[in-house]
Parts: sequence; structure tokens; C-alpha cells
Amino acid sequence: MAFSNHLIFLFVLIVFIISGIKGDDNDLISKECGKNFTNNDNLQANINNTIFDLVTNTSAYGFANSSHGSGSNTVYGVAECRGDVGVQTCSECIANAAQQIQTTCLNAAESGIWYQHCFLRYINSNFTGQADMNVVAMWYSTENMTNTKVYTKTLYELSVELWFTAPFRAEQRKFGWGQIENHNLKNSNDETIIIYGMTQCAWDIDNVACSKCLGNAFNITESACGEAAAGCNVITKSCAVRYEIYPFLFFNATAVNPSKTTRSIIFGNI
Ligand SMILES: *[C@@H]1O[C@H](CO)[C@@H](O)[C@H](O)[C@H]1NC(C)=O
Ligand SMILES: *[C@@H]1O[C@H](CO)[C@@H](O)[C@H](O)[C@H]1NC(C)=O
Ligand SMILES: *[C@@H]1O[C@H](CO)[C@@H](O)[C@H](O)[C@H]1NC(C)=O
Ligand SMILES: *[C@@H]1O[C@H](CO)[C@@H](O)[C@H](O)[C@H]1NC(C)=O
Ligand SMILES: *[C@@H]1O[C@H](CO)[C@@H](O)[C@H](O)[C@H]1NC(C)=O
Ligand SMILES: *[C@@H]1O[C@H](CO)[C@@H](O)[C@H](O)[C@H]1NC(C)=O
Ligand SMILES: *[C@@H]1O[C@H](CO)[C@@H](O)[C@H](O)[C@H]1NC(C)=O
Ligand SMILES: *[C@@H]1O[C@H](CO)[C@@H](O)[C@H](O)[C@H]1NC(C)=O
Repeated sequence: MAFSNHLIFLFVLIVFIISGIKGDDNDLISKECGKNFTNNDNLQANINNTIFDLVTNTSAYGFANSSHGSGSNTVYGVAECRGDVGVQTCSECIANAAQQIQTTCLNAAESGIWYQHCFLRYINSNFTGQADMNVVAMWYSTENMTNTKVYTKTLYELSVELWFTAPFRAEQRKFGWGQIENHNLKNSNDETIIIYGMTQCAWDIDNVACSKCLGNAFNITESACGEAAAGCNVITKSCAVRYEIYPFLFFNATAVNPSKTTRSIIFGNI
């Protein structure tokens, strides 16, 4: 009896873990529908055409911008996949995003939808090229690192690379990734831990706007997640920052040799 109860518990636990992982990658993060309009087929057609372009080109290139119409009915759109997702995942995500927007944001002249793997936005005014630092979503790990002094310093080292170097060298998805390892982060038991991080800017903003947006996002990680949080994820309209003490990126960067006495850091961009 006790044995079968354990089995049921184990089964439920496994289902939870699997659905938890799936949800983390595929679930909707946020959706906004605004500026309702009525009886404007011209505007609706421009929205439809813009979304269609965004899906086509994002599936092919991983990012896209598009514009249709004239005057107050002009629609501007931007879409992008996270830099570390592959072609298949990217096109599935953007097709789903478009379908969700079209079925649930009816008659909205300004909409945006954000998933783990991609986002899509359109507005009937030209918003492209400007860093929009409004927060879309944020969450953090409830686990705290107790050796805050070492943790903060190590995290700062990684953040500097992710902020200054990675997005600047990226020409397309403006995606930076990196990892740093150190010991004595969680406590003083000499345990080696790797911190994994990423940064990404919407591809329509330039390097100056990207830098400003990421600076703001990193400031939010400090003030909102706390300097001891073992993970933090801040998504704003034009950029995103995330770090965790477990690997969450969808590719394997380069192997790092665990070492208790030396610290190593690697980073790159897509
Ligand atoms: C826009 O697309 C929606 C959903 O595909 C469709 O129902 C609607 O008729 C289209 N409207 C125009 C004006 O093209
Ligand atoms: C898309 O972005 C490029 C590069 O910033 C710009 O030159 C082009 O005008 C934009 N196209 C549309 C349709 O907004
Ligand atoms: C799609 O991308 C191609 C290649 O970058 C570009 O020439 C074209 O203008 C884009 N089309 C739209 C509608 O965004
Ligand atoms: C806009 O339209 C949606 C339905 O498409 C509705 O739920 C929402 O309340 C409307 N918002 C405003 C401000 O009228
Ligand atoms: C939208 O505005 C940006 C600058 O903010 C400009 O570079 C771009 O050409 C504009 N797009 C269109 C289609 O006018
Ligand atoms: C982690 O630290 C924050 C404040 O920095 C605190 O609110 C939270 O309760 C701590 N979490 C745990 C699990 O101790
Ligand atoms: C981030 O915070 C620092 C220190 O408080 C401040 O100097 C800087 O202007 C902030 N950056 C942004 C982009 O908000
Ligand atoms: C990453 O590396 C680990 C361990 O070497 C391996 O098990 C995993 O399949 C790799 N993942 C990808 C996406 O290559």
C-alpha cells in the first residue's frame, strides 16, 4: 500500500516536472491588446498584412520588421525569436503568436505578445528604432545565495560582458550569452557553481538604444530581484536580461572545466 502510494507520488512528481519544463519554454509570458477601433477594414487589412510579413520573414531570418498602409492607418510591426532557438522552434512560435494575436486581439490597433521563444508587436504609429523600457514581465528565483559578497561580484563580472560586449557584436538577433563559474557562491563550502546568463535587444533598436535598454534592465534585476537571488528574468518591450544557476539556454556553448581554484568566464553572441 505504502509502496503504491509512493509510485503515485513519483508519477505525479514526474508529470509536474515535465509539464513545468515544457511550460517554461512554451507558455505565454504576456499579451497586450490596446487602442480598440471599430469599422475600419483598411486598418484591419494593414494589420493582417503586417502580421503576415512578420511571420514569413521571422520564420526565415529569426527577426523581421514590416509596415503597411498610409496616414493614421499605417501599421508598423516588429517580431523576433530568442537568439538561441532554432529555425523550427522559431517558426512554430511566431506562427502561434500571430494566430493568438489575430484571434484574441480583435480590433486592436496596438498589440504585443511575448513567449519564451519569440515576440511580435504592432502599432499604428512608428515605434520602431526607439528603446521602449516598459516592463512586460519579470520573475526571480526564491532561492538566495548566502555568500552575497562573492556572488554579487561574480554576477557583476558576467553582467558586464553580457551588457557591453555581447549585444554589440551581434548583427542580427542582438543576443548575448555567457557563463561564469566560481566557488563559494552559495555558501562557504567551496562548491563550484556556474551562473548562466543572456541578454537580448529587439533587433529594430541600434547599439546605443540597446545599451541603454539593457542598463535599465540590469538596474531592475538589482532592485526587483535582490542581489542574492539565484535567478532573475526581466523582459522589457525592447530588451531582456536573464541569469540562472542552472543551464537554461537552448544550446551548449563551450565546455567549462570545473575548477575549485580558478574562475572562468565564456561568452558570445548570435
Ligand atoms: C484579417 O484577418 C482576420 C483573421 O485571419 C480575418 O478574419 C479578417 O477577415 C481579415 N480582415 C481583413 C480586412 O483583411
Ligand atoms: C526595417 O528596418 C530597417 C533597418 O532598421 C529599415 O531600414 C526599414 O525602413 C524598416 N522597414 C520597415 C518597413 O519599417
Ligand atoms: C523580408 O526580408 C527580406 C530580406 O531581408 C527583405 O528584403 C524584405 O523586404 C522583407 N520583407 C518584408 C515584407 O519585411
Ligand atoms: C477592446 O476590445 C476588447 C475585445 O476585443 C474588449 O475586451 C476590451 O474591453 C476593449 N477595450 C476598450 C478599452 O474598449
Ligand atoms: C520609423 O522611425 C525610425 C526612427 O525612429 C526610422 O528610422 C524609420 O525609417 C521609420 N520607419 C518608417 C517606415 O518610416
Ligand atoms: C531571499 O531574500 C529576499 C530579500 O533579499 C527575501 O525577501 C526572501 O524571503 C529570501 N528568500 C528565502 C528563501 O530566504
Ligand atoms: C542604473 O543605475 C545606475 C546607478 O543607480 C544609474 O547611474 C544609471 O543611470 C541607471 N541606468 C539606467 C539606464 O537607468
Ligand atoms: C548539452 O550537453 C549535455 C552534456 O554534455 C548533453 O547531455 C546535452 O544533450 C547537450 N544539449 C544540446 C542541446 O546539445
